[in-house]
Amino acid sequence: MHHTLIITGKVIAGLGEGRRFMSLSGYRKQFIKKLGIDPYKGTLNLKLSGENALKLARIEKMRGITVRGFRKGKKTFGAVECYKARILGAGCALIIPKRSRHTDVAEVVAQWRLRSVLGLEDGDRVKMQVAV
Ligand code: CDP
Repeated sequence: MHHTLIITGKVIAGLGEGRRFMSLSGYRKQFIKKLGIDPYKGTLNLKLSGENALKLARIEKMRGITVRGFRKGKKTFGAVECYKARILGAGCALIIPKRSRHTDVAEVVAQWRLRSVLGLEDGDRVKMQVAV
């Protein structure tokens, strides 16, 4: 049985790292196979506060869909736990790197650039339904 947790957060810019990771075929192939998402090269970052940050911490402890880590040359890339989600009806996934320390930023991947599809700008508040 799946439950839905609603997380509300504010759209913020990140450091451009999502693009780098989502470009790696080691992640991309697994996203396609396990989540049915051929990810847009980037992650949408949502800044959380108060109870929403606490919800992320709760989800972090739950089992999701695991995207395994891999090696590429001398570099290793860590496993990521994924949870299917929706933002304003658009299918997406909340992703939490397994090695990450707890943060108050939720990272979201989707097949499309959500800023374009949903008309989102920095500072907009969005509600995400997460299947847990
Ligand atoms: O620069 P930043 O770390 O915020 O983003 P990125 O991971 O390099 O992603 C590039 C841009 O696409 C950013 O503006 C993201 O917010 C946006 N994005 C999006 O709208 N929808 C996605 N599914 C992924 C990223």
